[in-house]
Amino acid sequence: MAAKSSTPRPPVVLGIETSCDETGVALVDAGRRVRAELLRGQLEQHAPYGGVVPEIAARAHVEILDRLIERALDEAGLSFPDLAGVAATAGPGLIGGLLVGLTTAKAIAAAHRLPLLAINHLEAHALTARFTDGVEFPYLLLLVSGGHCQLLAVLGVGRYRRLGTTVDDALGEAYDKAAKMLDLGFPGGPAVERAARDGDPTRFALPRPMLGQPGCNFSFSGLKTALRQTIERLGPDTLEPPLLNDLCASFQAAAADVLVDRTRRAAELFKTDYPAGSALVVAGGVAANAYLRACLARPAGELNLRLIVPPPALCTDNGVMVAWAGLERLALGLTDDLAVPARARWPLDPAAEPAPGAGIKA
Ligand code: KG4
Ligand code: ZN
Repeated sequence: MAAKSSTPRPPVVLGIETSCDETGVALVDAGRRVRAELLRGQLEQHAPYGGVVPEIAARAHVEILDRLIERALDEAGLSFPDLAGVAATAGPGLIGGLLVGLTTAKAIAAAHRLPLLAINHLEAHALTARFTDGVEFPYLLLLVSGGHCQLLAVLGVGRYRRLGTTVDDALGEAYDKAAKMLDLGFPGGPAVERAARDGDPTRFALPRPMLGQPGCNFSFSGLKTALRQTIERLGPDTLEPPLLNDLCASFQAAAADVLVDRTRRAAELFKTDYPAGSALVVAGGVAANAYLRACLARPAGELNLRLIVPPPALCTDNGVMVAWAGLERLALGLTDDLAVPARARWPLDPAAEPAPGAGIKA
């Protein structure tokens, strides 16, 4: 009998992201192809409160997740038995949302006898550059989002060494708070970046916390306080251009100086300890900021590191990164038991000291 001559298809993993305010669902194959991708934000639900409300977020995930999964399978022309595994973000993040995504993944895995992959959200951000650019380990990662601000040596799947973290606010959080003070809406990052484009970054001398200090930690709360005091001093005119633009530009310039200084120190350390490392990867929502990306090209160039920033849609939260992290773990046999818990906190480097004063930021 003639052998069946069908080309082997790369395995497909379903990825589910529900750790914050985006419901992300994606089907990705091991050939680095997105077979389907759906993303639903919840901005309208949270907007009246000026930030993400955990209960509202969890409810919004519940209402839509099943439908998104069904649609993704439809679009890809696949059904559950075609999958090689089911991956869901299991932490860190808002526990209600994490439970929705992880429980759904467990149910699918149990019903269809598929491997379950419980994904660390930070690892999903960290591995995205391997999906987009095929970066080899080890590499230096600057992870900057609304909840996280860390510098990590990425040594392998599940192998991270934290070189620095924020001792107070994450940078995205600082952008969001600045935007709130300036009445620019939520999320604040894109609005502040836009307003800063027409502003004078030297108009206001805002502080650069930690600049030149030993180590690679960050701090942004002093910058936020200084901005608030400047706004109070200037009065109602601050909410109008050109003052508004100058304030945003001055804030962003201070944030960039800190980011560049801390990243340069981490890059020096990284190159000393891992001479084979050749890339600086920037990930997380703040990596969507073009000004900050341009500034980070400096320390990368000085240390002979290739600067890799995934496209903005893969920097902010999404299902593709979760599916990809699932594929990476599946290939190494790192599957999870159905009893695996959701975790509000889940540091990538458990050996690192908790940052003093850090909230749920892992
Ligand atoms: O990774 P992400 O989608 O969610 C978290 O895991 O936090 O990041 C969202 C954060 C928000 O704080 C948002 O203001 C920030 O990323 N962000 C930006 C920009 N776009 C998004 N910050 C500065 N500039 C931007 N263009
Ligand atoms: Zn994120």
